[in-house]
Amino acid sequence: MGITKRNGFAINAPPNGTYAHIVGWGMAVPETVLTNDDLAAIVETNDEWIMSRTGIRERRIASERETSATLGLKAAQRALEVADILPTELDLIIVATSTPEHIFPSTASLIQASLGASKAGAFDLSAACSGFVYAVDMAAQSIRARGIQTALVIGTETMSRVLDWQDRGTCILFGDGAGAVVLKGSAGAGGVLSAVLRSDGTGGDLLGIPTVGSLDMDGAETFTNGHQMHKMYMNGGEVFKFATQVIGESVQQALHKAGLTLNDVSLIVPHQANARIIQAAARSLKIDVSKFMCNLDRYGNTSAASIPIALCEALEQGRIHDVDVVVFVGFGGGLTWASMVVQWGAPEPEERPNRFNRQRRQISYTLARWRARLVRLSRQINEMIARSRPQRGRMKRLRSKVDRFDLD
Ligand code: COA
Repeated sequence: MGITKRNGFAINAPPNGTYAHIVGWGMAVPETVLTNDDLAAIVETNDEWIMSRTGIRERRIASERETSATLGLKAAQRALEVADILPTELDLIIVATSTPEHIFPSTASLIQASLGASKAGAFDLSAACSGFVYAVDMAAQSIRARGIQTALVIGTETMSRVLDWQDRGTCILFGDGAGAVVLKGSAGAGGVLSAVLRSDGTGGDLLGIPTVGSLDMDGAETFTNGHQMHKMYMNGGEVFKFATQVIGESVQQALHKAGLTLNDVSLIVPHQANARIIQAAARSLKIDVSKFMCNLDRYGNTSAASIPIALCEALEQGRIHDVDVVVFVGFGGGLTWASMVVQWGAPEPEERPNRFNRQRRQISYTLARWRARLVRLSRQINEMIARSRPQRGRMKRLRSKVDRFDLD
């Protein structure tokens, strides 16, 4: 990649001149708030301990009808609104999540169907709390390589469903929510400038959720190593050490790759795990903690959703302006970690938005809902008809087929 200059910043120029810009963003969190005092009624803990060790005051908890797909869909619809694009313009949907309802179909496919994004490929990406940065990088690379033009990236989680509510070491940390961004290709310089993705599977046993396919699984709810099926386990102390070690180094690596330094950065949007981890990262980078976006007091750790949620709130609070350089940094299970440098701002003068686009999006969502219902209904009717045919008729048809084959 060559280095070009724009507005005083050095920018990595992709070889074919297409940049990947974030042009839309949205978030969605459940309404139910679970405070530290509420938690104290469930496990032996208290507000003072949780606040002083984590900085978390409350978190959101999904209702019975909310899933990672429904929260992700809401965030996606808001991101499409900001980007003012139609679902049919999407080429790719990537969902970063550790709490899908199914191994497959992917949460991305469920959201694709609900949006009516009929021309989009869709898949889930598993990189725990680093997932959103990984996914944005995958989408940006595809755009820069001109494989696609427009992508939707969602981080969405229902962590409350994989928590052991008896384990005060983990259940106090996590919450539910979703955030999404729309990326679009443009010749205008800026957008995603660089990313550094890393993994160290030797730390896989420090943080995880065993699921189907686990070797330890022989029908038992609790494994020999004390871990529970579909429940999160964590070695908090070791994860804390890992996080504080990798953030600074990873941010510096991504900045170096973009040809920038910390002085060029307006805001760092880190994964929202623990206020003490963010403070330690600020110390290791020798910058003021005010350069970090922090909203974990209200949402806790929402895993892959935490960075896009924090990004949306940073934008809402007017903490990001055009041409600002913003850094995302994620870390978590795997172990995985990732940093990304983004130069904010509309790449070109805005096209006049089509004033009917909002209605067209609403129609697309309604049609998608009805289409899904109709497709499922017609499949059920076909199955019923097939089942109701008398066995003898089926045998007769089979025999006549065999006879025809014999004649041939
Ligand atoms: N409420 C009250 N007391 C608690 C408690 C809780 N929720 N959880 C643990 N304690 C107690 C412990 O039992 C221990 O008591 P003891 O000294 O009598 O044995 C004491 O508090 C200290 O526990 P410790 O685990 O050493 O606390 P800590 O300062 O390391 O904080 C975490 C624990 C989990 C908050 C911290 O390790 C952490 O944030 N780690 C990173 C986790 C993370 O971010 N994971 C996700 C990464 S994506």
